[in-house]
Amino acid sequence: MMKMGNFQNKEMWKIFIVLSRWSMKKIYEYAHDWIEKSVNNNDIVVDFTMGNGNDTLRLAKMVPNGKVYGFDIQEKALNTTKEKLEKEGITNYELILDSHIFMNQYINKYKAGIFNLGYLPSGDKSITTKKKTTKLAVMHALDLLEVKGILAIVVYPGHAEGKLESQMLEAFVSELDNQDFDVMKLSVKNKKNAPYILIIEKNRPITF
Ligand SMILES: C[S@@+](CC[C@H](N)C(=O)[O-])C[C@H]1O[C@@H](n2cnc3c(N)ncnc32)[C@H](O)[C@@H]1O
Repeated sequence: MMKMGNFQNKEMWKIFIVLSRWSMKKIYEYAHDWIEKSVNNNDIVVDFTMGNGNDTLRLAKMVPNGKVYGFDIQEKALNTTKEKLEKEGITNYELILDSHIFMNQYINKYKAGIFNLGYLPSGDKSITTKKKTTKLAVMHALDLLEVKGILAIVVYPGHAEGKLESQMLEAFVSELDNQDFDVMKLSVKNKKNAPYILIIEKNRPITF
């Protein structure tokens, strides 16, 4: 006969497994899902803010016969990302220690990209993406994006600079002609200042 302790443990595990299946993904994971649906395994994809390399790694795995480019202004981010990729045996990458506003010097057309804005959670919080450069970089990124390509932007309005970026981006994407781009916003409705994502799909060739 099964002892009560064992039975309770088993039941607890079942509940845990069911609940963990129900629990919501992190917002950036939805951005990954969108990107994954839009790319082929030989596409060029770009992580415009490498940070700890989690987005770079996901992107690299989506395009085993293509290539992921990663940008960051911090050497620490580049090193962490490189380590992460190498640990997984990933070789289809190029990491660039430069601001994403200079992307034109390194990349041409690409199929999908992500800006995960803000600062390195474990690093110097004063080194953060900024409203003015983010706007410029997003415009360049939309120029270089292939038709039917996806640009995902993860926005963090919960800190001062992030709030400014959020206001700028809301205004900017609202003004985009819907013949040129489709813009979708995925946000958490019952949490104040929660991070959210903008997904932009390019419909036809356009330059700003
Ligand atoms: C929230 S973190 C990115 C998280 C990251 N994608 C990950 O998977 O861990 C934001 C990163 O943007 C970088 N950053 C800030 N300004 C930048 C710029 N002008 N060009 C490129 N990267 C920048 C920061 O150094 C920081 O590492």
